[in-house]
Amino acid sequence: MAAMFVRESPLLGAVGHVPLVEITAIRALAPACRLFATVEGLNPGGSIKDRPVARMLLKAMQAGHLDGGRRLLDSSSGNAGISYALFGAALGVPVTLVVPGNASRERLDRIRASGAELILTDPLEGYDFAIGEARRLSREHPDRYWYCDQYSNPENWRAHYETTGVALLRGITSTTGRPPDAFVAGIGTGGTLTGVGRRLKEAHPETRIIAAIPDVFPGIEGLKPLGQAGDLVPAILDERLIDRRVPVRMEDAIPMCHLLARTGLFVGPSSGALVHAACRVALEDGLRCIATVLPDTGERYVSTGLWSGHDGR
Ligand SMILES: Cc1ncc(COP(=O)(O)O)c(C=O)c1O
Repeated sequence: MAAMFVRESPLLGAVGHVPLVEITAIRALAPACRLFATVEGLNPGGSIKDRPVARMLLKAMQAGHLDGGRRLLDSSSGNAGISYALFGAALGVPVTLVVPGNASRERLDRIRASGAELILTDPLEGYDFAIGEARRLSREHPDRYWYCDQYSNPENWRAHYETTGVALLRGITSTTGRPPDAFVAGIGTGGTLTGVGRRLKEAHPETRIIAAIPDVFPGIEGLKPLGQAGDLVPAILDERLIDRRVPVRMEDAIPMCHLLARTGLFVGPSSGALVHAACRVALEDGLRCIATVLPDTGERYVSTGLWSGHDGR
C-alpha cells in the first residue's frame, strides 16, 4: 500500500510548546502550597484546545475522513472553534462550526477571519443545543460533513495524556522533587481532566483530581455546569477519576484574573476560576503542591469587560 500522505503545517509543530510556571500570585492566599500551571494561551490558537484539535484533525486526515472536500464539522464554546478554523485554514481543510451565540466577539470574528463556516445557536439554549445541532447536520448530510465530535473523540483526551499530562508531571517533579498532590481542571469536553488525570494517576495513584464546576449557566466561558438537571455528560469524561468537585463563580474568577495579570499572566476567566479553586483545596485539604492549567489568553475577553475599570488607577 502506498504511504499515506498528509499535508503538514509548521504551525501544528508549535502546539504544546508552552511554559510551565509557578503561580506566585497565591502566596499570600495559600502560603503552604506551591501551584504550577501551563500557560496554554501561548499556543498558536491562544488556548488549550489547540492540543486536542491538532491531534483530532491530523488523525481524521490520516484516516481519509476529510477526503474529497468533505467538511470537518463540530460544535464548540469558541476556543476549539478557533483551533479548528486556524488549523483547517493552514492545512486547507474546510471547516463548519456550530457555536452558541454568546461566545465572545473576539472568538467569533477570529473564526470568521480564518474562513470557517459559522452556525450560531441561541445563547439561552446552551452548549448542549449546539451539540444537538451538529449531530443533526452530520446525520442529515453525511456526504457533506465529517463530524469530529470533540465530546466523544478519544483523540481529545489522548492529546492531554500524551502532552499536557507529561509536561505537568515532568516539569513539577523536576522542580520540586516530587509529583503534585492534586490536579485541578475545569470540564468542557472533559478531555483535559480525563487525559491529564489518567496520566497522573497512572504514575502516582494517590494524586487527587479536582473538578472545578461553575454553579450557574451561562457562567464561565468554556466550563460546563456538569451535574445540573438535563446537562449532557461528555462521553470521554471519566468521572471515576474525580475525587472532589469544587463550585466556581465568576465573582471569584474575575479578581483572580486581575491578580494573575499583575504577575505577568494575562489569562481568561476559566484560568482565574481554576486558580481560585486550587487555593480553596490547598487550604481545606492541606495540600502542598498542586498542578493546573491556564486554559486561554485574556485578550479573548476584552469585549466582555473583564479588564475594564481595573487598571489600578
Ligand atoms: C477557556 C476554557 N477552559 C477550559 C476548557 C475545558 O477543556 P476540556 O474541553 O478539555 O474539558 C475549555 C474548553 O473549551 C475552555 O475553552
